[in-house]
Amino acid sequence: MKRGLGTITTLCAFLLVMGCGPHVQSVLDPRSDEASAIADLWWAMAIVGSVVFLAVMGFLFGAVFGKSGSRPPGGAMRFVWAGGIVLPAIVLVGILFYALHVTLRTAPPQHILTIEVVGHQWWWEVRYPDAGIVTANEIHMPAGGHVQFKLSAHDVVHSFWVPNLHGKKDMLPGVFTTISMRAREPGVWRGQCGEFCGNQHALMAFDLVAHAPDDFDAWVAARQAAAAATELTQRSYGKELFFQHGCQNCHAIQGTAARSNIGPDLTHLANRRTLGAAATPNERNTLAQWIVDPRSAKPGTNMPATHLPAEELEALIDYLLSLDQRP
Ligand code: CUA
Repeated sequence: MKRGLGTITTLCAFLLVMGCGPHVQSVLDPRSDEASAIADLWWAMAIVGSVVFLAVMGFLFGAVFGKSGSRPPGGAMRFVWAGGIVLPAIVLVGILFYALHVTLRTAPPQHILTIEVVGHQWWWEVRYPDAGIVTANEIHMPAGGHVQFKLSAHDVVHSFWVPNLHGKKDMLPGVFTTISMRAREPGVWRGQCGEFCGNQHALMAFDLVAHAPDDFDAWVAARQAAAAATELTQRSYGKELFFQHGCQNCHAIQGTAARSNIGPDLTHLANRRTLGAAATPNERNTLAQWIVDPRSAKPGTNMPATHLPAEELEALIDYLLSLDQRP
């Protein structure tokens, strides 16, 4: 009895905690028509599943504690047919058709933009082919229209998931998959890799920022201007250190000789909200931590530690934070 009470208390506490805080990553706080359809399906399945569960528990208690020799109403064989075959067939076929209906309801009509996202261990490459923008670990899109996401993976299978806006979509090496999302209004939500992809899977996240259409156009123009300005950046000590310490072996910065995509593109680094696929906020001290001891910020990351004297570290950070600064 005590143990049962403990289990119920734990469950209630869990449900309460689930309800806490801003719902920036929740299937049950839908912010698009697609996510609403999925949330409705979730509730329908949860309710049907709960009713079936309670009925089965009722029969189980009846079997354990009921009078011995008692029979179900209508006879044993009839009960097996009705409860074991007919009822599950009706319930499962009903849910199947409902799920198919949801799938059709979530098929998009037309796209206003295509964004390419490539999953890497353990970060997200984000490309805007029409605008020529490449960034990472942060997706900006306009609200109000359907945006097509063209997905693939660089190494192993990942899964693209923004619970507030849509269901999951697998990202596969060598194959493109697509998903369309439409945010009803501007907002910021958290996306998360939904397929186990190695020891940093749980910390493979990103922020999705949906802008009002005019604000999104301004965002695109600002990124394009910043990338163009990078090419004109004067030579600086920090930039020399970037190449001296081999950062270009993994990273790209548009307008420079750094072109690798083993790690995230840094052209717009200072403009991003987070570092390490949403592992830490993007600030001067966390950036220093990323360079000197990245594994303390994100255990298991592929980013190697770079040991350098304090004045070199400061100069390198000055350079990195000059790349597309936040206004
Ligand atoms: Cu990428 Cu899990």
